[in-house]
Amino acid sequence: MATTDHASTREDLQELAKRHLWMHFSRMGAYADHDVPIIVRGEGCYVWDDKGKRYFDGLSSLFCTQIGHGRADVAQAGADQAKELGYFPTWSYAHPRAIELAARIAGLAPGDLNRVFFTSGGGEAVESALKLVRQYHKLTGHPNKTKVIARKVAYHGTTLGALSATGVTDLRQPFEPLTPGGCHVANTNLYRLAPGYGAENLAEAVLECIEFEGPDTVGAVILEPVQNAGGCFTPPEGYFQRVREICDEHDIVMISDEVICSWGRLGEWFGAQRYDYQPDIITTAKGITSAYAPMGAMIASDRMMEPFLQGSTSFAHGFTFAGHPVAAAVALANIDVLEHEGVLENVREHEAGFRAMLESLRDIEIVGDVRGAGYFHAIELVRDRDTKQSFDHQESEILLRGFLSGELFRRGLICRADDRGDPVIQLSPPLIAGPEHFEEMESVLRPVLEEATRRMVHKA
Ligand SMILES: Cc1ncc(COP(=O)(O)O)c(C=O)c1O
Repeated sequence: MATTDHASTREDLQELAKRHLWMHFSRMGAYADHDVPIIVRGEGCYVWDDKGKRYFDGLSSLFCTQIGHGRADVAQAGADQAKELGYFPTWSYAHPRAIELAARIAGLAPGDLNRVFFTSGGGEAVESALKLVRQYHKLTGHPNKTKVIARKVAYHGTTLGALSATGVTDLRQPFEPLTPGGCHVANTNLYRLAPGYGAENLAEAVLECIEFEGPDTVGAVILEPVQNAGGCFTPPEGYFQRVREICDEHDIVMISDEVICSWGRLGEWFGAQRYDYQPDIITTAKGITSAYAPMGAMIASDRMMEPFLQGSTSFAHGFTFAGHPVAAAVALANIDVLEHEGVLENVREHEAGFRAMLESLRDIEIVGDVRGAGYFHAIELVRDRDTKQSFDHQESEILLRGFLSGELFRRGLICRADDRGDPVIQLSPPLIAGPEHFEEMESVLRPVLEEATRRMVHKA
């Protein structure tokens, strides 16, 4: 039992964190002899830790803080709403902020994606989409259409349903057996194309899987506009248009998982708009509130909702906090900022500068590839650039966890060093960042990557 619930000193907080806070996706054993990093404050593109040290938030706090930290006006919108109506569910009732936000989202989403089902986060949005697909097909006379095609190494969340779509073996195996029906096909890793595929025929992997599984058993295809896990895989020309065609041919629901790729991350409201395709469902979260409050949403087309408007049918699914009035008020204030302060325009204007800074690192031996779109990029690290030879598991562990993560953080840059696929560093700054921030990122990345090259390639 804790002796206090309000820690007054830094040491107390450390002690309580180690004893009580179970951090997500964290090797908790590592904190036995390391401090837990404790972030106490944020402003703009920066956060500060409990020792007063400043960091550039180069990952937008997990791809969330589109408008940056410390916006008192957005926080105030939440506080005002809490005073007026702190909570009421969206189960059989509505409240003004959820209605206004749903209408606002429908106005921004592509095509006839007019039906907004709120959730508390991204995994719940994906879970909702997968369940909607099942019930939709049952209601429209195709009860066997239950399988979901996703892409290898893609991350779609951790709940058991969403996990069946997630294509990261290490995240799946500890929890198997998963919800049945998850099938995985080649992703759009253009640096390391899957055997038998070129950029021009990658979408055929989806068709081959449908034919293999049997078209009458496949309910949905789920894809991110730019796939996060593996390191920001962008689609080749025409990829999504061909997937759309394939889905149409086989009555398969196309889900665009935009938990990261919406709300300006790629310079558009939604990633589907950047690549000009029309999904049947978009799943979103994170930047919808710039993370000033937790929220997610599944945005479905009128066609997807049609069977649910008949007779006594309902979508037998919901979450207590979905569409929470405080989160909805915060989301509306966040969208105001995105709209009135030219945040999407900022991304479009400076995307090339961001990319150029990353490209300039290509002279460093271990930089194998630079890829991504908008303010969502990755650098793939390789042992040998000419052969594209990657680091093996043990080297990757030494490189990422033994050196890069700690060193980048120590030098004041928060980003992600990840090896769910091949080793990458991901950079995804707040959407208000500009050239001076790119310079700052470069001033940390360059010496750290050069040092990593000396250690890993030259064994110096
Ligand atoms: C594409 C995608 N889908 C789903 C999720 C799960 O979202 P959450 O962590 O909010 O449940 C994530 C989280 O990063 C994501 O990137």
